[in-house]
Amino acid sequence: TAPMNHPICGNTSPTPTFPVSRPRRLRYNPLVRELVRETELSPRDLILPLFVRPGKGVRQEISSMPGNFQLSTDTLVDEVGAARDVGIKSFILFGIPEYKDATGSSALKDEGIVQQALRALRKAYGTDVLLMTDECFCEYTDHGHCGLLCDRGGILDVDNDATLPILAEQCVSHAKAGADVIAPSGMMDGMVRAIRTGLDNAGFTDVPILSYAAKYASGFYGPFREAAESPPSFGDRNTYQMDPGNTDEAMKEVAIDLAEGADMIMVKPALSYLDIIRRVKEQFRVPVAAYNVSGEFAMVKAAAAKGWIDERRVTLEILTSIRRAGSDMILTYHARDVAKWLK
Ligand code: PBG
Repeated sequence: TAPMNHPICGNTSPTPTFPVSRPRRLRYNPLVRELVRETELSPRDLILPLFVRPGKGVRQEISSMPGNFQLSTDTLVDEVGAARDVGIKSFILFGIPEYKDATGSSALKDEGIVQQALRALRKAYGTDVLLMTDECFCEYTDHGHCGLLCDRGGILDVDNDATLPILAEQCVSHAKAGADVIAPSGMMDGMVRAIRTGLDNAGFTDVPILSYAAKYASGFYGPFREAAESPPSFGDRNTYQMDPGNTDEAMKEVAIDLAEGADMIMVKPALSYLDIIRRVKEQFRVPVAAYNVSGEFAMVKAAAAKGWIDERRVTLEILTSIRRAGSDMILTYHARDVAKWLK
């Protein structure tokens, strides 16, 4: 009940013309607030990342990402069905292969784990779901780097140009297995051109590329590397992912990827890079995806578990801010929860 003994709301200032501007006028009525709201979340804008591994009946929770699992193809089909039932229709698949080697050869197999998952999901749901695939080698190499290695003055590094053909091969293999959208995340120079050429030559001229164009060398990928079992076994990714201090470099990466044929652009991570999302959108006016990455998710979950924040409120606020910054779509591990909350 309202506290009593307060004056009736209304203008009490000595001159009725002051304040001149009253932004609060549009905040009193909740229906007015709804009318003037600029950015609204919809499950249609959300893409759920999923991790698939060999086996049957596997549903192994990722400890640092509560509610997210390593799944086998059968449980993956169930998981996608459940997400679809609450309104999530777009998914991006990450594979944890049967074996890893120096060249990541398990990524290229017809019977590779992502290829199997694509076929199983297509069989179960047809064109009712949109299936994206993350294209990279860090999950498939025994050293955990995103491509083939070379010796750079005594230090092992990812061999840019040698990685391009196998990256294109991986993408074609995924397209053959049914991928709707190809999303290369390895940050190799020339990757979009190599992949576009590979796809076109294989007849997949109509399969779009969502390029992880502005991907930063970030500490926020920690939980993902547990989930995908893909931490680099030595060194870091600083020779291929971007320095967090840079923005002009992101614009350059985006310009190059668009020139090479990227159809959509990704900025990753999202929350610490809202300025990049905004700048990319304003400068290029193309569809922009933002990746609300594993570490961003884990922070919310951990604080919520402690009772320190309201998970629902904070999650909706974070995702709204990522859309408000200029992204059209968000890859997020919160997708299922958000879709349920928005119902
Ligand atoms: C790699 C890839 C990574 C993520 C998506 N694709 C990890 C990395 O670059 O180390 C991270 C996603 C996340 O943290 O949620 N190919």
